[in-house]
Amino acid sequence: MGVIGAGNVGRALVGLLSDPTRAHALEDAATAPLELVGVGVRDATLPRPGVADNLLTSDVAGLIEKDLDVLVEVAGGVVPTRPYLESALRRGISVVTANKALMAECGTELALIAHEHGADLFYEGAVGGAIPILRALRTSLAGERITRVMGIVNGTTNFILTQMTTGGSDYRDALAQAQALGYAEADPSADVEGYDAAAKVQILSTLAFGTRLSGDEIDREGVTSIRSIDVAFAQRSGYVIKLLGVAERVGETGVSRRVHPAMVPLGHPLAAVNGATNAVFVEGVKSGPLMWLGQGAGGEATATAVLGDVLDAARNRVSGRHDAPFSGDRSLHYVPSERLSSVYYLSVDVIDQPGVLAEVAGVFGRHRVSIQSMEQSDQGVDARLSFLTHHALRADVLATLEELTSLASVESVGACIAVIDRLSA
Ligand SMILES: NC(=O)c1ccc[n+]([C@@H]2O[C@H](COP(=O)([O-])OP(=O)(O)OC[C@H]3O[C@@H](n4cnc5c(N)ncnc54)[C@H](OP(=O)(O)O)[C@@H]3O)[C@@H](O)[C@H]2O)c1
Repeated sequence: MGVIGAGNVGRALVGLLSDPTRAHALEDAATAPLELVGVGVRDATLPRPGVADNLLTSDVAGLIEKDLDVLVEVAGGVVPTRPYLESALRRGISVVTANKALMAECGTELALIAHEHGADLFYEGAVGGAIPILRALRTSLAGERITRVMGIVNGTTNFILTQMTTGGSDYRDALAQAQALGYAEADPSADVEGYDAAAKVQILSTLAFGTRLSGDEIDREGVTSIRSIDVAFAQRSGYVIKLLGVAERVGETGVSRRVHPAMVPLGHPLAAVNGATNAVFVEGVKSGPLMWLGQGAGGEATATAVLGDVLDAARNRVSGRHDAPFSGDRSLHYVPSERLSSVYYLSVDVIDQPGVLAEVAGVFGRHRVSIQSMEQSDQGVDARLSFLTHHALRADVLATLEELTSLASVESVGACIAVIDRLSA
């Protein structure tokens, strides 16, 4: 086997492969000895602790041309990774990757190339680090009709929201703490804007529903606009705010795919998932609710998932079989969030004067959004109105907010956060 990448995951994987206390167990599980013949990096002259110098090479194309059975890709990025993996698969080499960006963008195409050339393509490490959710969807739940997959699949944003909830931090402080602890990058946009979670939703929904939808057909909203007052309102009302990645059946032929902050009821299993931990909650018609929870990132945790895939691929090699790609249900279409209904939390800052509340309530009524409860707090000359709506169509809620923005008595329109327990088509 060969590996591309000797960073956090690559070095941890090499460490597991070369651990003498695991050697027998690995050989038993693989049904053959595993031999690492090379580790591709950009700069092979740099020392890589734990990786023997004679294994390092910057000639990745040359590594793929060796007589490999399995190629592991833990380098990241789409270019030049995609051509490397295509070339390996076309040579009949099974590929194991933890690259969510690549799998979200072209996983279906790579799976077909693998199938055509009698190779496997496994990518357990791409979603939820050590959590074996993809294998569960691919095998144990293959015959189940899954209705919803809902996950906390980005540890950085879950850490930030946890700090805002339990540590009383505001968003900026919580982000700074995440960066200081190495949970967030210097440029955190992939995490805080929801792009990373969207890539995982693309992968999860492809496996859960067999969809062939494009990565653009995911509604995405991050956590950058969440304020301390929203977190406090959620706590007072029996909820906690989480960034969720959701893939959900809508009727017989629709699928909603979205990433957004949500108010999760305190009794829901996802509400207790704190810090950088990840969790995926799956609901099936016969299985009922199921949840997986664990370390969603980190070199060693992710390397365990990668190693499991390597062993699967090795076993398949020895037995001369390969896993068939999901067939895909082309009849399923994407349903935009505007067409879904939910209970919503909304907050509006208004000028504190007589008649304003009636004016605001009139806007809700005109757009068929009925109010379940309202809380008013004084802010000097202004007042903050926090609403929980009854079930309302998101399109109507957005139209309400748009009209409210145009009122002279409205200073600003704040949060618009779905309450997940009642989200439905
Ligand atoms: N870290 C995690 O917690 C985690 C969790 C889940 C999934 N993943 C995924 O796992 C993959 C690797 O993550 P990581 O954190 O280990 O990354 P990393 O620490 O940045 O390491 C990347 C490695 O890949 C090598 N590399 C990058 N581009 C290359 C190229 N074009 N040719 C040859 N080598 C190349 C780098 O070589 P140089 O050192 O010479 O630059 C480096 O050794 C990514 O797809 C990531 O999304 C990571």
